Parts: sequence; C-alpha cells; structure tokens
Amino acid sequence: MRELSAPKGVSEYFPPRSQYFEFVRETLISAAKVSGYQLMELPAFEDTELFKRGVGESTDVVSKEMYTFEDRGGRSITLRPEGTAGVMRSVIEHNLDKLTLPIKVWYSGAFFRAERPQAGRYRQFYQVGIEAIGLNDPEIDFEVIAVADRAFKALGLKSYRLDITSLGDSKSRASHRKDLQIFLDTLDLDEATRARAAINPLRLFDDKRVEIQRVMEKAPLLLDYLSEESAANFAKVQELLTGAGIAFTINPRMVRGLDYYTGTTFEFVSDKLGAQSGIGGGGRYDGLMAELGGNDLSGIGFGLGVDRILLACEAEGIFDSTEVKSELELFVVALSSAEKNFVAGLVNELRNKGIKCDMAYGDRALKGAMKSADKSGARFSVVIGSDEIETGKVALKEMKTGTSKEVRISALSDEIKAN
Ligand code: HAM
Repeated sequence: MRELSAPKGVSEYFPPRSQYFEFVRETLISAAKVSGYQLMELPAFEDTELFKRGVGESTDVVSKEMYTFEDRGGRSITLRPEGTAGVMRSVIEHNLDKLTLPIKVWYSGAFFRAERPQAGRYRQFYQVGIEAIGLNDPEIDFEVIAVADRAFKALGLKSYRLDITSLGDSKSRASHRKDLQIFLDTLDLDEATRARAAINPLRLFDDKRVEIQRVMEKAPLLLDYLSEESAANFAKVQELLTGAGIAFTINPRMVRGLDYYTGTTFEFVSDKLGAQSGIGGGGRYDGLMAELGGNDLSGIGFGLGVDRILLACEAEGIFDSTEVKSELELFVVALSSAEKNFVAGLVNELRNKGIKCDMAYGDRALKGAMKSADKSGARFSVVIGSDEIETGKVALKEMKTGTSKEVRISALSDEIKAN
C-alpha cells in the first residue's frame, strides 16, 4: 500500500511545537482585539471571480498561484489566497457598510497559494489579518500599523523592521503612470512583460530579473508624484508613527504582491529569516470595494504570516526565555490500579471546575506515571493512594520547586486557582 503523506509544501503544527504556534497566533489576535477589532469568520473558498477582480490579474497570485477547481455544480471555486477580498465581499453582501464606520474586523485562518515551497513559503499557510473599512484618515493608517507593531513587541520580537511608502490617490497615480509609461516605452521589453506593465506598470519594480532591476533603477518613483492631499496624509502617518516610537524606513520601491493597494502601504521584515523575510504587510485600498460592486469606500488592513512569525520567534530564541504557559495545571497519578476509578472521577470534577488537569492512564508502574507527570509540563502533581482517599488529604507538589503542601482533596481547585 502507498504511504500517505501531506500534500507538498503545506505547513503543519503538532505537539509540542503547536503550543508555540498557538501562542503566536493568539498574541497577534489579542493585539487586534485590544484595538476594537471584531471577528469575521469567512469561507476558505470563494467564487474565483472575486480574486480575479479583487486581487488583480497582473499579480503572480492570480496568474499562477491559485488553487482553482470546478465544484460539482460546475462553478469555478478558488481556495482563498488572501483575506481582504473575502472580507469586502462579505461586507457588501451583508450591508455592513450601512452600519457605523469604520467597520473594524479581524480574521485568522489558512490561506492557499501554489508557490514553490521553501523555508517559510508554503502552499497552505496561516495569517492573522485585520481590516478597517470606511474611513480614509491617517489616524486609521497609523492604528493599523501600530496593531501589528504592538503584536510583534508583545511576542518579544526585536530583529524586525518596518518599511512604508505611499502609493497615493488616483490623481497621484495617474500623473506618475504617464511618466512611467513614457520611461517604459524607451525600454526593450518582451511581450509578456509589456502586457503585465499595461495592467499595472508598478509590477516592473518587483521584477526578479537582474537586467530589469537595473533599468528600473532610473524609473520615476510614485512617491515623487504624490498629490498635495496624499503627501499631507503620508506625512501625518509618519508623524504619528514617530510620536509613538515606531521606527520605520521609507521604501519608495516597495511593490506589494496584490494589485489593490493605494495610499499608505507597508511591510514588516524580519532580519532573522532568509529569503522569505516578510512577516506581515498591508496597506490602503481605495477602489477595491467599488470594484467588487459595493459602495466606494476606502479601507486599510494587514495580513501577518503566522508561520513566518513563529520562525522569527524561534530564530530570536524567544521561547528559551519567555515561558509559554503550559496548558496543564495539575497532573494526577494513582498509586495503584485500585485508585484509578477515584482519580478518573476526581479529574473529571476538577475539569468541571475549570482546572486544566490530566491523569496517568494505563497500567504503568508509579515510576512511569511520575515520568508522565514530569513530561506533561503541569505546574502541580498529586499522587493518590488508599491513604489519601481515606484521609481526604493529598500532598500537592509544585513540579518546578519540588516542594509539597498538604491540601484537602475538596479544596484542590481553590488552592490551584489561588496560586
Ligand atoms: P500578503 O503580503 O500577500 O498580503 O501576505 C501577508 C503575509 O502573509 C506575508 O507578509 C507573509 O508573512 C505571509 N505569507 C504570504 N504568502 C505566504 C506563503 N506562501 N507562505 C507563508 N507565509 C506567507 C495579504 O495577503 C493581504 N491580504 C494583506 C492585507 C490585508 N492588505 C490589506 N489588508
């Protein structure tokens, strides 16, 4: 029989490492919640048209990385490569834009891109994202960037930097595009590249070929074409970031992998990862909602790559010093098989009271059971024999220090909660 394995290039998390993955994801989510963002839980697959129109046909994501298939009803379905388009679709479909603006939502889950797998680049990966829709204020741009920065700092990350730029409003982009087009016309480009440039000329700044990179060094930069309003907005965002002590570098050559960006655009990059160093990115999207058939509202958001952030945390040795709290508070061991029933009942009762606990199962000798207690990472352990059942008292042992304290079985949950 053929051995089964996971599809190529997917990320998977299982114990013990999964606790670090969970810690990272929950810390990112907490930073969003503390800033007033509410959960949006969306389908992992959508109508293919949504991503074609939302993400843009000139992008690698849409042109060659989507998992697209026909469902049983003959509809074209795509596994979501990113979260923003789906959020917009849901906001439009459920009339959320009729509520108080801005709409502030967070999401977390698996995303799918058929990229060439390598360290930190997967075909199924995880993001925590936020979107703030309905206001075009520099204060919101600042808030969104600050949420990500707060999350990274809460994790204890140090070796990362923030790149920002502005892609301006439609006026800024139109005047830049004219000059960029004139510049591109002087170049000897192949058909495919020209076609790409016709959809989004900024893509050429992101071209991986050395010869293109070299000629693009002389290309006019959008940042020099910002309208007065866009320039003022961008200056305000910088002022707010500086005021909050969030360091940044202006990178006028930044090109995001998705086509919907306008205005403030940003990327967080870790110095500890190899080629796949982008740990999160986002920006404003002025025309996206209208493009998808909704009201003409602007929005801004980000997607943080949980997989890469976990790798960055590990590379910075964060879990060596930060104690990611073990899930278990108590591990209960029966001295002999005669006490097993009692222990099973006790553990069940303690769980009902909200104590995270587990017990040694099976018929292992006491020594083996104590090893399980050690390995469990629980804060406390107790051993229950016939004496303990008779007296109703146990020695509650703190695993780290090895010290014990006599506690009534009936008072175990209170004692653990108090410590
Ligand atoms: P993105 O830059 O395509 O933006 O992805 C955000 C983050 O997801 C990246 O910085 C990276 O950490 C992670 N990521 C992307 N692709 C992979 C992959 N193949 N393997 C591992 N991690 C990956 C977006 O997706 C936008 N929707 C963000 C956004 C929200 N913009 C506005 N609102």
